[in-house]
Amino acid sequence: MADSPYPELKNSHVPERVGRPWTDYKPPPSAPVWAVISGFGSFHVLVAALELGVFDTLADRGANPGIPPAVTAPDLANELGVSAPHLEALLDSLAVLGLLERVGGRYGLNDTAARYLSSDGAASMASLVPVAPGPLDNWSRLADTIRAGRPAQPIDDNPAEFYRPLVEGTFATMLRAATRADLQVRYSAMAGSRVLDLGAGGSPWAIAILKACPDATAVVNDLPGVIDIARRTTAEHEVADRCEFRPGNFHTIDIEPESYDIVVLGHICRTEGPGGTRRLIERAWKALRPEGRLLLADYFIAPEPQWSPHSVLMAMTMMASTTNGFPITAAQTAQWLQEAGFESLRLIEPIGHQYLYTATKPRRPDAQDPN
Ligand SMILES: C[S@@+](CC[C@H](N)C(=O)[O-])C[C@H]1O[C@@H](n2cnc3c(N)ncnc32)[C@H](O)[C@@H]1O
Repeated sequence: MADSPYPELKNSHVPERVGRPWTDYKPPPSAPVWAVISGFGSFHVLVAALELGVFDTLADRGANPGIPPAVTAPDLANELGVSAPHLEALLDSLAVLGLLERVGGRYGLNDTAARYLSSDGAASMASLVPVAPGPLDNWSRLADTIRAGRPAQPIDDNPAEFYRPLVEGTFATMLRAATRADLQVRYSAMAGSRVLDLGAGGSPWAIAILKACPDATAVVNDLPGVIDIARRTTAEHEVADRCEFRPGNFHTIDIEPESYDIVVLGHICRTEGPGGTRRLIERAWKALRPEGRLLLADYFIAPEPQWSPHSVLMAMTMMASTTNGFPITAAQTAQWLQEAGFESLRLIEPIGHQYLYTATKPRRPDAQDPN
């Protein structure tokens, strides 16, 4: 059979034939390697810009009709009290990363920066960026972690110190995901729901449900050193009076059997390992009333890991800094849910890159159909 004229379609050296990844005769570009090398610097460029107040200062200018929203590097350096040539290098780096606009020597917020990087942005990630990778020291010791099968300084040793800034940083994104999830989950159509939010952090899931359901109530759990964040956020969203706060370890706190309509496991499974995750699914099952629903949000890995790069890298982040962190796959999670007895599994993506399994505890076989 004649070979295809296009190298990528050649059937003479595909993996199935030669038993190794596809390769070409011409040398490949080094761009993927450079992208990784500059990834380290790019992260610190963004963290420095946030720390210096670059985005918030530009946002303030944009909000003030009396002054032009875009500014030269020396003028901005003057405003921030920093070195002008150094700031210019930083601003140009942000521009090439697509995080600022540079036109005619003036810098201003682009849409990405306005939405995600200013503190008041509609979906601000400003406080998330610095803490999202976990302790940076653990990354520089990653090879040791992989040799030993455990990080040198797992966050499990001092969870509150790690989780407090993390849940503050993720709150805005998770609240958007939890609010948008209603379009597919339709929790707002449920009357008098009782919600259990385990490892709630700032409790974005309970808040979204309580705001959509005026007669719902929630039990909100987190570690004693973190739960005050949920007390504050639920008060800010005016739902605290419908919450009972239950501090403690979610593996051991008392949970009333068959008492909840919704149980939320929001981004708590991938640090727990397979054993811990199965125990949490089992606890959720016992806590739910028949026909109650489990909402399990996480970064699930697709059947071919390269289809879900964000989830794969989030799993690596967990393994770099936790004792039990593991890559949680969509298929394995579905199997655990089914083995626990759940039915009607659905995997949804309420907002980009945020995934949620919904699963229903079936009605008892002997229950009468109300219709
Ligand atoms: C990644 S955050 C997720 C927060 C929130 N559920 C969400 O979806 O945004 C994980 C949360 O689980 C809490 N957590 C971790 N281990 C816990 C444990 N053993 N018992 C109770 N909470 C725990 C952490 O304090 C943190 O608030």
